[in-house]
Amino acid sequence: MLSNGLTTVGLSAMILGTSPTVGESGHRFLFGIVIVVWGLIATKFIFGFWTAPATPGRHAYLASAEGLIDLAAVFALPLGWLLTPAPSDALLFALIWALRYIRHTSGLTLFWRVMQRSSTPLLSIASLFVVIFLTAATLAYVFERNAQPEAFGSVPRAMWWAIATLTTTGYGDLMPTTVWGRLLAGWVMVGGIVMFALQAGIIASAFAEELQRRHFLHTWDLVTAVPFFQGLGAAAIADIVRLLRAREVAEGTIIVRVGEPGDAMYFIVSGEVTVQLTSEPLMLGPGSFFGEMALLFGMPRSATVTVNKPSVLLVLDIADFRELAGRRPEVVNLIEIEGKRRREANAAMARF
Ligand code: CMP
Repeated sequence: MLSNGLTTVGLSAMILGTSPTVGESGHRFLFGIVIVVWGLIATKFIFGFWTAPATPGRHAYLASAEGLIDLAAVFALPLGWLLTPAPSDALLFALIWALRYIRHTSGLTLFWRVMQRSSTPLLSIASLFVVIFLTAATLAYVFERNAQPEAFGSVPRAMWWAIATLTTTGYGDLMPTTVWGRLLAGWVMVGGIVMFALQAGIIASAFAEELQRRHFLHTWDLVTAVPFFQGLGAAAIADIVRLLRAREVAEGTIIVRVGEPGDAMYFIVSGEVTVQLTSEPLMLGPGSFFGEMALLFGMPRSATVTVNKPSVLLVLDIADFRELAGRRPEVVNLIEIEGKRRREANAAMARF
């Protein structure tokens, strides 16, 4: 956050510095700001390098996207001074600092994976784009060369119209005047819209798939942290991960209320809950589960369960519980054994 603020201040000073209206003193002030920001970025880089953890080490920091972008940000201004004679032009190299906005690897890797995932369909669309573009430019040349030799007198000249129309930018600086030229323009515009819609769809679905994959992996980590599931094979865990939903709950939240119908059961990944039994409250911690009795025996909730400290729970909805019973009876049998034990303990307590 602070780092983004620093980048914004530096870039704003660089951008404002290009305006002639700020005057001589304004230029000096903005120049000073850019230099101060550069100093802070360099200090941050040296600090990051110095304090890099022993594993994976300093070289790993330098090889990471974050390290590389920080390094490029430090060398942006010296590179500018080296390559351009005018100091004010050298400041334009501060534009490299804009990369700092995206240097956090999680965002970058997400974007990178999405592009990788959608590269094949995107390339097919790009090839189609080239075919339509060349056809449009060539046909426009054929239809319009006599009417507008200046703009359409050669295929390369007609390419400017083709790209502006195909990307639906339509500057309006060039327009076909012949009937065939206008018909062509209509088809090219529609073709452009269809192609952009396809691209947007491909990228959006790749984003959705990638987020789903990450969600799956996150839930997988949580499930394998629960001892109850640890004895199961990978196939069974994969089945269960698909059915479970992670939920973070704050202290004091009531998860189930006595007497209510049961709609889900819960596995505790971390934290602690209290089961308000009529005899005395009972604590359940990581690895335990609760809310199974109402699902197993079709009875109302036998107790109120409250969260004692911030907890992570895995929720198994009633429909998914039934699906699990069909697909993995061995898992539900284990839950049932514990459910029966609890029911008997409660009945014994009630008799007592
Ligand atoms: P359910 O009845 O659906 O909702 C309340 C939950 O509290 C219950 O399922 C059990 O998971 C849990 N519970 C009830 N009695 C006991 C007990 N004696 N020991 C541990 N947990 C219990």
